[in-house]
Amino acid sequence: MKVLIDLDTTQAHQRLTIDTTGSAKSGLRGSISIPGDKSISHRALMLGSLAEGETRIRGLLLGEDPRSTAACFRAMGATISDLNSDLVCVQGIGLGNLMEPQDILDAGNSGTTMRLMLGVLASHAGRFFVVTGDRSLRSRPMSRVVNPLRQMGASIWGRESGAKAPLAISGQNLLPMRYNSPVASAQVKSCLLLAGLMTNGETIVTEPERSRDHSERMLAAFGADLTVDVSTNTVSLKGPARLIAQEITVPGDISSAAFWLVAGSIVPDSDLLIQNVGVNPTRTGILEALAAMGADITLENAREVTGEPVADLRVRSTKLKACKIGGGVIPRLIDEIPILAVAAAFAEGTTIIEDAAELRIKESDRIAAMAKELSKLGVNISELPDGLEIKGGNPLVGDAVDSYDDHRVAMSLAIAALMADGKTVIDRAESAAISYPSFVPTLRQVCV
Ligand code: S3P
Repeated sequence: MKVLIDLDTTQAHQRLTIDTTGSAKSGLRGSISIPGDKSISHRALMLGSLAEGETRIRGLLLGEDPRSTAACFRAMGATISDLNSDLVCVQGIGLGNLMEPQDILDAGNSGTTMRLMLGVLASHAGRFFVVTGDRSLRSRPMSRVVNPLRQMGASIWGRESGAKAPLAISGQNLLPMRYNSPVASAQVKSCLLLAGLMTNGETIVTEPERSRDHSERMLAAFGADLTVDVSTNTVSLKGPARLIAQEITVPGDISSAAFWLVAGSIVPDSDLLIQNVGVNPTRTGILEALAAMGADITLENAREVTGEPVADLRVRSTKLKACKIGGGVIPRLIDEIPILAVAAAFAEGTTIIEDAAELRIKESDRIAAMAKELSKLGVNISELPDGLEIKGGNPLVGDAVDSYDDHRVAMSLAIAALMADGKTVIDRAESAAISYPSFVPTLRQVCV
């Protein structure tokens, strides 16, 4: 498929133009590799910093978010080599040994950095920390981790009684706790497990639905004494723990692969091979949803890489049909809903996405953002309080759209633009670099 792809980097905000005028009507082709998993990259840097010895990380995501995590832990004494995807070496300083940073810790745009790190900071007794983030992160709710941490004995202050960053933390000796989380959130679960590492006793977290389990897998690999009861969505961690440095290979991020899974499905005559994708069952909701829509996706060469299941995914275009997405699958595809909305725009019938109110408090309000921006391209889409309703089949026409500084909104709109008539211009497209710095080069590669 020959389309004109132009990234204007001369302005403060980058504009990505995708122009399908007169494009040759061939499909997307080729074999692509995708960058490392964002969730696993954060955890590898954090646990590596807290462990004893040298952790070696291969395949780290070089996006802005993991860079924020690395900068924070460097400021607290961990030695982390220059970030590259071949090999990053982290000299851990051992649990409890983080140094008081000389300046404010900046989590940038990254909710995972801030929420997971709060568990670590709150449990480092005798040290004082201040954490902030960009405008989006400072507007996101921190009470979901601050409140349970306070129940463990944490001292945390911030705007709106500690609900919003900047936050100040005076590290304490925390007590273990049993916590029934009202939200299925890997960030909440992971924060509390990290806080439990230095407590005397068992920290037990139960969640209403199963969220991603990368923390559980990696903590166990680093030597923490941890049990998981999948029948009750409960994780128990026995403190105090000792973490021992590990060799980690980060698989490709299924959340980044999702853009190509949908692009390959909706652009006629496509055939794409996406190599080395993490297919942890707590992340594969996107594969289930696309299967329910009739997509043609096959898993090849399934294997395990440092405790995480990995496969190559092959996608060929098909006619999609509408489906209903809600309930327990939502936490397993929460980051893929913007691109699923694009898939739904090309599916026959009405797709309903519900039980996804969490989307309103991500990097942007992704329900409002996708409804507004896809409407501009001609999609028949409306907001539900907790999701979206999309009537598929309208022809799309290019227009000026906005990413809201949200990486997943920017990339989802770029995929929709491939099937819009004429020119689509996506403003603030640089946000893609949060999780996928090579998105535009890969877009050019598949549009041959
Ligand atoms: C993440 C968990 C999810 C997800 C985010 C990354 C993680 O957030 O949306 O992009 O790495 O733990 P919640 O746990 O808040 O749902």
